[in-house]
Amino acid sequence: MCGIVGYIGAQDASEVLVEGLKTLEYRGYDSAGVAILAEGGLDRRRAEGKLRNLSKRLKEAPLAGTLGIGHTRWATHGKPNETNAHPHRAGGVAVVHNGIIENYAALRQELQADGAVFTSETDTEVVAHLVSHFRAQGLDLQASVAASIERLEGAYAIAVVDEAYPDEFIAARESSPLILALGDDENLVASDLPAVLAHTRKVVFLQDGDLVRVTRGEAQIFAEGALVERPVKRVDWSPAAAQKGGYKHFMLKEIFEQPRAVTDTLTGRLGRGGEVHLEHFDLEALKGIQHISLVACGTSWHAALVGRDLIESIAGIPVSVEYAHEYRYRRHIFGPGDAVIGISQSGETADTLAALGEVKARGVRVGAITNVMESAVARLSGDSLGVIYTHAGPEIGVASTKAFTTQMVSLHLLAVGIGRTLGTLTVEEATAELEALRHLPHWMEQALEGASQVAELAPWASEFDNYLFLGRGNLFPVALEGALKLKEISYIHAEGYAAGEMKHGPIALITEHFPTVALVGSDDLKAKVVSNIEELKARGGPVLIVASEGDEDLARIADQLVLVPEVPERLQPVIYSLPMQLLAYHVADFLGTDVDQPRNLAKSVTVE
Ligand code: F6R
Repeated sequence: MCGIVGYIGAQDASEVLVEGLKTLEYRGYDSAGVAILAEGGLDRRRAEGKLRNLSKRLKEAPLAGTLGIGHTRWATHGKPNETNAHPHRAGGVAVVHNGIIENYAALRQELQADGAVFTSETDTEVVAHLVSHFRAQGLDLQASVAASIERLEGAYAIAVVDEAYPDEFIAARESSPLILALGDDENLVASDLPAVLAHTRKVVFLQDGDLVRVTRGEAQIFAEGALVERPVKRVDWSPAAAQKGGYKHFMLKEIFEQPRAVTDTLTGRLGRGGEVHLEHFDLEALKGIQHISLVACGTSWHAALVGRDLIESIAGIPVSVEYAHEYRYRRHIFGPGDAVIGISQSGETADTLAALGEVKARGVRVGAITNVMESAVARLSGDSLGVIYTHAGPEIGVASTKAFTTQMVSLHLLAVGIGRTLGTLTVEEATAELEALRHLPHWMEQALEGASQVAELAPWASEFDNYLFLGRGNLFPVALEGALKLKEISYIHAEGYAAGEMKHGPIALITEHFPTVALVGSDDLKAKVVSNIEELKARGGPVLIVASEGDEDLARIADQLVLVPEVPERLQPVIYSLPMQLLAYHVADFLGTDVDQPRNLAKSVTVE
């Protein structure tokens, strides 16, 4: 996720900006840049890769000045290279931006028709040209930024400098975080707290729709054109705590970030009339498709299982789900109607990459779902079906959370897109699917709120050495994922099973010391899962039930009951994953393990 810092004061701005950006490194980035307003005018330095590359540039060609904006970029539109690095410039204006401008393609066309020359592939550059356009019409900087954001659809936090305004800069936000930090004769804006703590502890958390004019001596906040007051907060967090947003661990922060992450996955992709826009994926190339293989490992493989259900039920195309490490060594019989899609949050998993590479070499269409732009699987699929980026932002906790839920949502979009492309899904059906997805972040927020009781279960749940996780239908993969999460970070042995399989063997394990986490959906399979739970209770096994609101009566057969909002059946896997993640987190935290970096595990597995 990108980082923004803006500074005006008495200190050397490029130093302040680079120091601030360093504190945001944990967010992940692939290029960085600053624009400084000096006596000679506005100038910028940008570099691909780490901040040390930018520092080197600044050492070779320093920029002296006390006003500037800086950025670390996590690529979403366009390759992670210097040309696409922020700040973006148009005339005397420079802009840094976090978020996604949904209507950037239309704006770009309009501005180009008006004579604007674009130099990058980013969505951000339209903002620089828009501001420059309004400036050329005679509006002042603040009015130009206000007029520009009127034209933007999507999510943004921006900071803008103009060489005609050496004593101010303008920042604004909509659905993307931005804070204002008030110092002594210096003021800053930043996308996150750690960037400002070396200067001041007095901050304002800007709200959606806020625009702020920042000078050395003051900052004025405007909402809908009128000057407004926002509470100034004093922050006592240490820089390390601030990086985690006040959460104890990155994993917990990432769990609670999921409604936002899923919003980013959906942004710009839900068209009118049931259309799905997958900007880097060629849905048309799937015409004539008869079978899809989804290839992945670990958590991504669990997302693939959910994806199978979605694609089969929504698009009516048969899907196989394969472990990449097994798939790459099997002999496959491909026909012209085959396609293979790799799912990998890192985009670097050696097994998934190798499996995709081999089928591509045999002339099969390949595609990818990944969180990392220009990652190896993205590059491999780029000239075939293409890539669906999950837009979860960097995930720092080793145990995958938001990468998983955004993969499932990406697969849902893909299923609807295939259904519409092949004509197996009507406009009305597609519209209904997309409408449900639109509501998903809201339901996720409710689920996270409701599931906060899971923290209180930790002492009870930490007593046991073994766990069974059961689910049926589309909650079976969630049971597998729940078990994986628990074992990864708490080191408690756990197995996920399809609930119907229990009587074929695992039930032999059940005693009063062997608990089960049972996922009860509000679907046709509910009665069957409830019967499975009765069988466990009859053998004295403790049961933690996760069910939908309205199923409070299940308390009669539950030792613990956690309720989540009732949602359309196809969205259940995302919603039920949230208490699974929280259960694993709180048990691990209670046991005192290294939650963010569990033993023996790595974030991306680049060896076979
Ligand atoms: C578990 C987890 C792993 C990964 C697996 C594949 O929390 O993160 O199981 O899912 O190593 O990684 P990617 O998705 O990067 O290919």
